[in-house]
Amino acid sequence: MAKNAISNSVIRRLPRYYRFLGDLEANGYVRISSRELSEKMGLTASQIRQDFNCFGEFGQQGYGYNVSELRRQIGMILGLDKQTPMILIGAGNLGTAIATHLDFHNRGFELIGAFDVNPDIVGKHLGDITVLDISELESFCHEKKPTAAILCIPKQAAENEADRLVKCGIQAFWNFTHYDLKIAHSDVVVENVHLGDSLTTLSYGLNSMEKNK
Ligand code: NAI
Repeated sequence: MAKNAISNSVIRRLPRYYRFLGDLEANGYVRISSRELSEKMGLTASQIRQDFNCFGEFGQQGYGYNVSELRRQIGMILGLDKQTPMILIGAGNLGTAIATHLDFHNRGFELIGAFDVNPDIVGKHLGDITVLDISELESFCHEKKPTAAILCIPKQAAENEADRLVKCGIQAFWNFTHYDLKIAHSDVVVENVHLGDSLTTLSYGLNSMEKNK
């Protein structure tokens, strides 16, 4: 499988394919054609064929795709066959919502710890996890070896904490702060999430629709 050759735009579509294929599998689908999948996903059949061709020959002329096999292969490309230990930094409003509402397990991660500076938050339970004081970060990482972190702290605190986390062995950041981690740490993997940007894109869509009326 030519994993390195897969373009970023294809990679961005993989989680959606994975989710759709999971729903199909749960609904008893054994196989599906690119045309049927395209109708369900609002993509063109040729786009789907092109995307899937990037990582191997899955489809069979006249047969379509084997749903569970395709989902398994996409899951492997996305690294979902492993469980990466992850920690949460900042257990405030956003951090709590993320820690308690997301299914980490099915997305290739296991949330094993949470940290905060606020004594009123330290000791709080987030599911099975108890929030620890951030002063315990180094000893925790030394013992449990997490390699991914979710940053849900104020921007001003992010620079300092990111440096600490990298020294503790964190290689991947799910970054909700507005601190640009890549400038100081070009060698780590960063996925920035900005709900505000997504909302702005919605505004753009609405404006363009109104202009075209
Ligand atoms: P919050 O104030 O409820 O939570 C922040 C938590 O971080 C607090 O519990 C605080 O005690 C803790 N904290 C502060 N410094 C810390 C440190 N050095 N180490 C560990 N914990 C520390 O704020 P909220 O609403 O949860 O937002 C968190 C961050 O996420 C902010 O930077 C905010 O701007 C950002 N945010 C980003 C969004 C996005 O779409 N990217 C959406 C909403 C918020």
